[in-house]
Amino acid sequence: MVRHLYVHIPFCPKVCPYCSFYKEASDRNKTQGFLEALLTEAKMFGGRLRPETVFFGGGTPTALSTPQLQFLIGGLRERVDFSALKEFTIEMNPATVSLEKAAALLDLGVNRVSMGIQSWDDRLLKTLGRVHSAAQARRSYGILREAGVKNINLDLIFGIPGQSVGEWHESLLRTIELGPDHISAYCLTYEEDTEYFERFTRGEYAPEEGRDADFFEMAMDLLPAAGFGQYEISNYSRLGRECLHNLAYWQGAEYAGLGPSAFSTCSGVRRRNIANTSEYIRRTENGLDRHDFEELVPEALRHSEITAFALRTKFGISTAGADPQIVVALEANGLVETSSGRLTLTRKGKLVADSVAAELL
Ligand SMILES: C[S@@+](CC[C@H](N)C(=O)[O-])C[C@H]1O[C@@H](n2cnc3c(N)ncnc32)[C@H](O)[C@@H]1O
Ligand code: SF4
Repeated sequence: MVRHLYVHIPFCPKVCPYCSFYKEASDRNKTQGFLEALLTEAKMFGGRLRPETVFFGGGTPTALSTPQLQFLIGGLRERVDFSALKEFTIEMNPATVSLEKAAALLDLGVNRVSMGIQSWDDRLLKTLGRVHSAAQARRSYGILREAGVKNINLDLIFGIPGQSVGEWHESLLRTIELGPDHISAYCLTYEEDTEYFERFTRGEYAPEEGRDADFFEMAMDLLPAAGFGQYEISNYSRLGRECLHNLAYWQGAEYAGLGPSAFSTCSGVRRRNIANTSEYIRRTENGLDRHDFEELVPEALRHSEITAFALRTKFGISTAGADPQIVVALEANGLVETSSGRLTLTRKGKLVADSVAAELL
C-alpha cells in the first residue's frame, strides 16, 4: 500500500527568475482539462493508494480558484481512500490567499499550509521577482490564522543577491514574531535553466566567500533559541509539527506523484511524469505512457539515497552500516558525532553535509 501522495500543480501567478520547479504562468484554457487528467491518473493508482500524507505542491496549487480546488480535492476523495489521512499540506504564494479559499480548503480536509514568504524586505522581494510585498505576506498569514489554519509553514530564502546579514537577521526575527509552526530556510541555489543561473554565469552575481555559511549559522542560532527545533538541515519546527510528508521521503517511503514532472517510487521502480502540461493531459487521457523517465531502484541505490537524506535529519543514520575508519576520521574533524548507535552531523558538519554524505557512501 502506498501511504504518501504528491500532487503537482504547475501554475503560478508569475514565474520567479530563480525557480526551477516545473511550472508555467496560469492558463485558464488548460486548467479544467488538467484537473480531469489528474483525476484520471489518481484512478490508475486505484486501490494501491491509502495516503497518510498528501502534499499539493508546485508551482502554486492555490493559483487554482476555489471551485477548481473543490472539484479537484472532491474528485480525489471519491477516487482515493482518505480514511488514514493525517496530514494534508497545500503550498501557497501570499498573492493567492483569500479567506474564502482558506475556509474552503479546511472544509476539504487540508490541515497544513506552506507559504512562500522568502524575505520580509520589499527590495529583496523585488530582486527575487516576487509578485507580493512583505505587507501582503503578513496579511495573508493573518487571513490563514483567521480562517482557522492551525499548522503553518513559512519558507524563507537566504543568500539573495544584495542581502546583508542584518537583513537576514531581521527576516528571521519577523518570522519568529508571527508565530508559525514550521519554518523552512533555504539557501538560494542557482539552478540551471533559470534566469538567475544565466545572470550568475554572466558574472552579474558575485556571492561573497563564506556569506552563505554566516546566514545558515544565524538561522541555526536564532530559530532553535525561539523554540523551532532543526529536524533537518533546512527545516525547523515546533515539537510535533515536523512535516510528516517530507519525513516519509527522507526515510525512503514509497510515494505516488500525480501531475506533470511528478515522481512516483512504488515497488522498487521510480518514474517521472512528463514535464509538459499539455502532453501530460494528452497522454493521460488517451491511455498513453505519461512517463519520460523510469528506473529500477536497486537496494544499494535505495540504501545510499536513504543514507544521504537521513544524515540531513536530526535522527541521523545507524553507525552499524558505516565504515568505522571513516567515522573516526569524521569525528576527529568535528563533522559528526555518535551516540547510542546513531551518527549525526555536528553544527560544523551541517555546513558541509553533502561532502560528509559522500565520505560515508
Ligand atoms: C513551490 S515553492 C512554494 C510555493 C509558492 N510557489 C511560492 O513560491 O510561494 C517552494 C519553495 O522552494 C523554494 N525555492 C524555490 N526555488 C529556490 C531556489 N532556487 N533556491 C532556494 N529555494 C528555492 C522557495 O522558498 C519556495 O517557497
Ligand atoms: S517560487 Fe513558487 S511562485 Fe515562484 S515560480 Fe517557483 S513555484 Fe512559482
